[in-house]
Amino acid sequence: MKTVKIALLGFGTVAQGTFNLLQENAELITNRTDVDIEIAKIFVRNPDKYKNITLPSHTTYVTNVEDIINDDSISIVVELMGGTTFAKDCVEAALKAKKSVVTANKDLLAEAGPYLLDLAHKNGVDLKFEASVLGGIPIIKTIYDSLGGNRITELVGIMNGTTNFILSKMTEEGLSYSDVLKEAQELGYAEADPTADVEGLDAARKLAILASISFNRRIFFEDVTVEGITNIDTEDIDFGKEFGYNIKLIGSAKETSKGLSLNVYPAFVLLTHPLASVRGSYNALYIKGNGIDDAMFYGRGAGSLPTGSSVVSDIMEVSKNIAFDATGHFKPFYYDQKNIYAPGKVQSSYYIRLAVDNKMGVLAKISAKMAENKISVLSIVQRNMDPETAVLAIVTSKCPRSYILNLIESFNSLRSVQEVNSVIRIMEV
Ligand code: HSE
Repeated sequence: MKTVKIALLGFGTVAQGTFNLLQENAELITNRTDVDIEIAKIFVRNPDKYKNITLPSHTTYVTNVEDIINDDSISIVVELMGGTTFAKDCVEAALKAKKSVVTANKDLLAEAGPYLLDLAHKNGVDLKFEASVLGGIPIIKTIYDSLGGNRITELVGIMNGTTNFILSKMTEEGLSYSDVLKEAQELGYAEADPTADVEGLDAARKLAILASISFNRRIFFEDVTVEGITNIDTEDIDFGKEFGYNIKLIGSAKETSKGLSLNVYPAFVLLTHPLASVRGSYNALYIKGNGIDDAMFYGRGAGSLPTGSSVVSDIMEVSKNIAFDATGHFKPFYYDQKNIYAPGKVQSSYYIRLAVDNKMGVLAKISAKMAENKISVLSIVQRNMDPETAVLAIVTSKCPRSYILNLIESFNSLRSVQEVNSVIRIMEV
């Protein structure tokens, strides 16, 4: 039986999950691959930090990454450090040294994926990245291989567990955004600096990777229009319930006749849509294709063993390719040049919450402004706050975002409008 020696770069949460699965399921993995996969080296800056972990006798820590790059016996480098500078240097060096690479690094792939895939191809090795998006949900291979015979027309999903945890708690327990964020940080769900999650950047990077392989086009993080959840208020969540919606941070990539629309945004999702029932830190992706019609994938989007499961699956695939002398045999898939559709032109229904003077005739002025802007009302709810102020929650007909921005300006020009508090898109079904 062939032995494939691998090296891990980094030994944090995901790397330890990978290590544990490779140990615990060693017999099953060997039987399934006909390859003996051996972790030969683990690159860490400070081995003392991992004194409590017992390594097999064939595994050693190294503190210089060159000890891995220059080791001809190592065929797979598993990059699990994160970041886009040192990690990129290491991945480039490994590929140039004709080692296959497995990585969970979505930031690196969203920034330099096509370049690194080309580099792997030129050097006749594999670059696999199943763990870079949606943690334990096997979605890259699913889109690339299992759905390979479909023309994919739409991806829509919940791609960030932290924000889904926060929004679920706000919805179910009526707590404020800042209180739930604090609790999520205390529980270790949210990072001390939660920016990448709550501002939608993490979801946008995942969307860029998924859209690239679904639409056969180079798509980068910068191509995605992003809006986070920091302005979501429990009052909006309450009104949403009244209209039959749950709030979710949605990643959406859609092919239209005018091009691709790529957006991450907080959206109201109809309670009857399967994504509306994805709770807590779970992720889900809903895919439309011209063969499958639609399919939904659900699971843990993060965590040591779930993400480790995706890393191990890539290591197994590359190991089999090495055993069959078949690495590097893939066709780079980004041959298409579809236009990216400007967000201002994307059509949606919108929810608008505004505080107005509690006086006769105000509603007539609001609806006149809507008619002037060619937008009609689908539903409206009014709550009287006090003798002076009424709150209106309006769901509009479908229109381009630019129309809504003009409407908000018109509302703001009315003396009877005290404040436009929120504008939230309704996810299309
Ligand atoms: N921070 C991410 C999330 C997990 O909350 O989903 C890693 O991508």
